[in-house]
Amino acid sequence: MGRFYITTPIYYVNDVPHVGHAYTTVNADAMARWHRLIGDDTKFLTGTDEHGQKVADAAARHGVSPQQWTDQTSARFRETWDALSIRYDDFIRTTEPRHYRSVQKFLTAIYDNGYMYKDVYRGLYCVSCEDYYTLESSDEGRCPVHGRMLTEMEEENWFFRLSAFEDRLLAYYADHPDFVTPETKRNEAYAFIKGGLHDISITRTSISWGVPVPWDDRHVFYVWYDALINYLTALGYGDEHDEVATWWPASHHLIGKEIIRFHGVWWPAMCMAAGLEPPAHVHVHGWLLIGGQKLSKTMAADGAVRLTDIAPTVLTDEFGVDALRYYLLRDTVLGNDGEFSHEGITQRYNTDLANNLGNLVARVASVVATKCGGLGPAPTLDSPLRVSAQEALRDTREAWERFAPHAALEATWRLIGATNAYLESTSPWKMEPGVALEGVMGDALEAIRLVSVMASPAMPDVCREIWRRLGLDGQPGDETIEVSGHWGLYPPGRPVEKGEPLFPRRA
Ligand code: MSP
Repeated sequence: MGRFYITTPIYYVNDVPHVGHAYTTVNADAMARWHRLIGDDTKFLTGTDEHGQKVADAAARHGVSPQQWTDQTSARFRETWDALSIRYDDFIRTTEPRHYRSVQKFLTAIYDNGYMYKDVYRGLYCVSCEDYYTLESSDEGRCPVHGRMLTEMEEENWFFRLSAFEDRLLAYYADHPDFVTPETKRNEAYAFIKGGLHDISITRTSISWGVPVPWDDRHVFYVWYDALINYLTALGYGDEHDEVATWWPASHHLIGKEIIRFHGVWWPAMCMAAGLEPPAHVHVHGWLLIGGQKLSKTMAADGAVRLTDIAPTVLTDEFGVDALRYYLLRDTVLGNDGEFSHEGITQRYNTDLANNLGNLVARVASVVATKCGGLGPAPTLDSPLRVSAQEALRDTREAWERFAPHAALEATWRLIGATNAYLESTSPWKMEPGVALEGVMGDALEAIRLVSVMASPAMPDVCREIWRRLGLDGQPGDETIEVSGHWGLYPPGRPVEKGEPLFPRRA
């Protein structure tokens, strides 16, 4: 049994959650659920990033105070995660007192260690990115990500001596080849460091919506600088009794590709400067695209993408929670960009869920009802499905462990395919009641039991329902996969229920 600490980025509350946020959160949730299933002591953290210019502007636009605005929008994220069956262990808000304590302690440590100095910052700023650009790194004065004109800024700021960490960061990358994955993203971050690091401005006097700088009360910390520290706040950093030694540095940060520099360069350097180990893993995923475009809130505001059409709850209303989760996990290789489309989700739904999984459960329950008196028979120990089940378990496990949910689900679905093929070849619906028929049905029930354990990190609700229909007690995941993954554990004599179709076909 190990330990597994997984985090999502904390989401800006300038707007409501969309399916891009859901993509990261569902992936992290499934990963956390997998690790609970293998018996790891697991902590899954998500939350909202509530400071900064962008959020202050959104509040002003809506005529409410930043605190009111963040309270209401942060709640929308929680509601969405509830609707998506996200089981986080902690939800952090950066306006909480615990976060202020943590940020102030962390940054005071950096200050005391001599890595902060005051200077005048002159440069260009993109409020949408909450990031600084030089003229050279901009697109002729426009933000290279959002296309908007950058704002010129001149302010007396506190600076972080990022440049002092160039060599230490390069050494850290060399010693920890799997610090940033996949490798292409690692190379990108590494090249950025190799290219030379500049010190960064980390405080602001022009806004007040932020964490105050303890040693200079005219300043608040720049939003990114406060945000990254959330990963430690959740471990009680800054409190008298913290859990930092329990969970840190063995953390897994799952992030989108646009924020690698913050997580792969700044954050490890900040940890080093504060006297802490850098995080162990940064897993970078690609973007979900619609017609080749990233679905960002800013672009939606410009009218390029109708984001309201793809709020996660619109999709769960249409397809159900499990189908949306399955689609997000199965359709895109984590690390690559993926295309999000209504046709895509409909196709996965009809093929993988309705035709394969749903149909398997329905036809088995139906034969048990008509030919076995409604009670599930015992599986056979020398079943031809046993090898398929063992292979599926092995491959599913290996894939979850390397952060490859699409491959894990593919492996699990191979057992569904093998079971459907076994039923096709034995045709139990044509067999006379008796030992042979019971063996086939017991084997199919056992395969379904194992599928519902293996698929439960991705589709917790439907797997619980399948478990119940098989007449089993508790739910998949009550026992670790070490225990529940053995072939032959389906207990005979339980009432098997047919029920409504799990995934009625969609046009
Ligand atoms: N607040 C910062 C993160 C601070 S972490 C210390 C931030 N917030 S955000 O609201 O803009 O969310 C960014 C994250 O949302 C991305 O890194 C990614 O995980 C997710 N996604 C946003 N749009 C996405 C897609 N189109 N596709 C996939 N993920 C997307 O940045």
